Amino acid sequence: MKFYVGHGRDGAEERLQNRGVSRREFMKFCGTVAAVMGMGPAFAPKVAEALTAKRRPSVVWLHNAECTGCSESILRTVQPYIDELILDVISLDYQETIMAAAGEKAEEALHQAISAPEGFVCVIEGALPTKNGGEAGKVAGRTMLEINREVAAKAKAVIAYGTCATFGGVQAAAPNPTDAKGVNDALKAQGVNAINIAGCPPNPYNLVGTIVAYLQGKKIELDDYNRPLMFFGDSIHDKCPRLKYFENDQFAKSFGDESAKKGYCLYKLGCKGPYTYNNCPTVKFNQTNWPVEAGHPCIGCSEPNFWDEMSPFYVEK
Ligand code: SF4
Ligand code: F3S
Repeated sequence: MKFYVGHGRDGAEERLQNRGVSRREFMKFCGTVAAVMGMGPAFAPKVAEALTAKRRPSVVWLHNAECTGCSESILRTVQPYIDELILDVISLDYQETIMAAAGEKAEEALHQAISAPEGFVCVIEGALPTKNGGEAGKVAGRTMLEINREVAAKAKAVIAYGTCATFGGVQAAAPNPTDAKGVNDALKAQGVNAINIAGCPPNPYNLVGTIVAYLQGKKIELDDYNRPLMFFGDSIHDKCPRLKYFENDQFAKSFGDESAKKGYCLYKLGCKGPYTYNNCPTVKFNQTNWPVEAGHPCIGCSEPNFWDEMSPFYVEK
């Protein structure tokens, strides 16, 4: 994987073309981002403008206690040009999973990125173990807690990406032996107020939409959990294609039976869609499908403490 330094708008389009992304594909992508942000097709050129602006934001991406599924959700997109685009939108100066540098070179890259006079955006993936000074999670001999305290406090903006970074995720599930916390909880004393893109995994379009809004200097309206309302304003249930069955009391009784095959509501099989806020039904993953459409109940993965509060997953709440 190769990363480029911004060379202006023409440079951006040239870079994309070099990576096999046509102008048509790029504009289609911008149209989707506009739709995800709740805007009409006329907004697509504005998205394109933001994404190909002369200066790309420098991004430092920190990994903590996690499975790395959030990064994977970007890197494993079915249409290969989407991850190319996302990684081209930003100047990714530090990302432990995909950067070529290792050891001291990696540490040097981090130091340089956070000292750059133009500043940087910090994306955080994974929960922060906090027990005993955070000794359960270390990178390069320093605790994740210490690294995040230093880096996030210096950033121009912080985005917590995925449910582990936003709310602690599975690491924070009872009995939470490492006292793992989400970013805003763990870094309160440092004055960090991250925008929360929740989900396990989160949808990459929600990250791009947030970055576009940031580049445009737009005020991002947030809900009580710091999630952008443009992505998390409706419940899964509100937009679910099975809603008509719920309203008619037509429920699937077991997986694979006739009622499930007919597409009946999955509520009795444990669906937590009525208690979960996210845009999966409209944005989908890989723009192809999402859990409920594939026949699996929503398990509430974008909500705080979902491992404890939404489980058992296959039992009606
Ligand atoms: Fe609501 Fe879930 Fe039923 Fe869809 S499947 S209508 S989200 S309860
Ligand atoms: Fe998560 Fe429910 Fe969407 S489980 S991926 S919020 S359908």
